[in-house]
Formats: sequence, structure tokens, C-alpha cells
Amino acid sequence: MEYLQTQGIRLPRLGLGTFRMQGDVCRAAVESALALGYRHIDTAEMYGNEDAIGAAIAASSVARGDLHITTKVWNENHAPDAMRRAFDSSLKKLRLDQIDLYLVHWPAPVMNLPAMFETLMKLQQEGRTRAIGVANFNIALLKTVVEQIRAPIACNQVEYHVMLDQTPLRKYMSANSIPLVAYCPLAQGRAASDPTLMAIGRKHGATAAQVALKWLLDQESVAAIPKASRSESQKSNLDALHVGLDEEDLQAIAGLPKDKRFVNPGFSPAWD
Ligand SMILES: NC(=O)c1ccc[n+]([C@@H]2O[C@H](COP(=O)([O-])OP(=O)(O)OC[C@H]3O[C@@H](n4cnc5c(N)ncnc54)[C@H](OP(=O)(O)O)[C@@H]3O)[C@@H](O)[C@H]2O)c1
Repeated sequence: MEYLQTQGIRLPRLGLGTFRMQGDVCRAAVESALALGYRHIDTAEMYGNEDAIGAAIAASSVARGDLHITTKVWNENHAPDAMRRAFDSSLKKLRLDQIDLYLVHWPAPVMNLPAMFETLMKLQQEGRTRAIGVANFNIALLKTVVEQIRAPIACNQVEYHVMLDQTPLRKYMSANSIPLVAYCPLAQGRAASDPTLMAIGRKHGATAAQVALKWLLDQESVAAIPKASRSESQKSNLDALHVGLDEEDLQAIAGLPKDKRFVNPGFSPAWD
């Protein structure tokens, strides 16, 4: 496994996404992923599956120190007391003593960013989470967090895949040493049947999904968290790390449409 070093943590570059998996299905998927060698699991209080993931971790023999767990606080819990309650609840469901990375899941239309980050930084100082970060933050919001509040954010988790350009955001994040964790790295599964990616895959004995993932993982300071419920897909996604893409492949991928954003809850601030 390859890792990104960020704000004192070691983030495995390929993780398992778990949105829309719950109960026994989620538990089985996480158990399978851990057995295959995944060491990074992405969840959120909003996904309603932290208890299933906690059960999978408890049943696994992977050493806690080798495991990276990200979870996220939902919008209704941005206020300091609510955030602490949400954090405690996540920790309990996950059956852990400490979270590895605790993220603000979405920016809300009205937020007290200084109060939110004061609480997050306290949770980190208390050792309850090893690192803190954000998701779905645009450049303007990142500027406030990084340049005014000076919070030590370990990542910004955003939608990023072969069909969506994130160049301006990536430039700001690179300049400030903030890794990008790519969600929907398979464009919610669409990448697996894209003809251009399938043709590139045929050339290398790989699948279109592997090509999409390797395109992300070849970029500096980018991690990816594909969701896969089937063990075969989980293994294949892990093996994407070994695919080699050449200049001709990169040019073909650059020619794909880059304006396909598939996730937007409707209350996020305008993207840059
Ligand atoms: N921070 C945020 O606001 C945010 C928002 C969205 C997502 N996320 C995180 O990012 C994760 C990934 O995003 P996502 O689940 O929306 O989309 P995704 O990972 O791009 O795509 C998941 C879909 O691809 C399929 N798939 C996986 N591996 C495959 C393979 N090798 N071949 C063919 N199909 C494959 C899955 O099928 P099966 O399910 O049948 O296995 C599933 O339908 C989420 O699970 C969540 O953890 C975060």
C-alpha cells in the first residue's frame, strides 16, 4: 500500500468508500476489504453504518495502528456541544478509542467556522482524533480555514474523477500542502463502462475502473476511496495501483468531458 503523509498521519492512498452500505452488507464488505489488504475505511455519521464498520473492525485481526478510519460530522451537528456529542457517538459505534481523521462533511449555508474549528482542534489536542479535515470545501472556504483560522487540516475530500476537472482547487491545495481525497473516484460506477477507459484498459490488461483509479493515484497528493460491495471489485480496485498509464493514455483521458459533477446536496456554496 502507498501512503500520503499529512499533518502527522499516514493516509493509505486507496481506501474503501462505504456510502449506501449498511448493516450486514456493510459489515461483510468491510471484513472482505480488510482481509484483502485495505487499511483505510471511509465512513460518516450520515451514512448510518458506523456500527456495522465497528463490528467489522472488532472482528478483524488487523492491528489498530495499521488501520486508518475517517468519519465525518453532519451539518446539524456543527455547533460545539452538538459536535462533541456526534463525535462521542461515532467513536462508540465504531468501537474505537480514537478516530484517525475527523472531517466536516459539508459546508452549511450558515456556519460559525471559528467555533467549529476550535472544537475540532480541541478534539485533536485531547488525542480523541489524530487529525482533522474538511470535505466539499471550495477555495474561498479553504482560505478562511487555512489563512485566517490556521487550522491544521489534513485533507479536503471532494468529488474528483476522470470526468471532472478540479484544477483550480488542486492548485490552491497543493500550494498549501493539503492532500485531496477523491470521492466518487469511479464517477459512481460510470467509469467502469466508459469506452475510452475500456480501450486504454485493453492495452494494459486492465479494466476501465482500474484505469480511472490509477489516473487519480498517479497524481501527487491524491488519495481515492472507491466504494465496492463485491470482493472481486475490491480486489480489482486495489490492484489498480499496479497499472501503468502512458502519455497516450493521459491524452485520451484529458479528452473526456470534465464537467460531470454527480454529487450536490443543493446547499453547498458556489464552486470556484
Ligand atoms: N464527503 C462526501 O461528501 C462524499 C460524497 C460522496 C461519496 N463519498 C465517499 O466516497 C465513496 C465513493 O463514492 P461513491 O460510492 O459515491 O462512488 P464510486 O466509488 O465512484 O462508485 C461506486 C460504484 O462503483 C461500483 N464499482 C466499484 N468498483 C467497481 C469495479 N471495479 N468495477 C465496476 N464497478 C465498480 C460500485 O458497485 P458495487 O456497489 O455494486 O460494488 C458502486 O456502484 C463513498 O462510498 C463515500 O465513502 C463522500
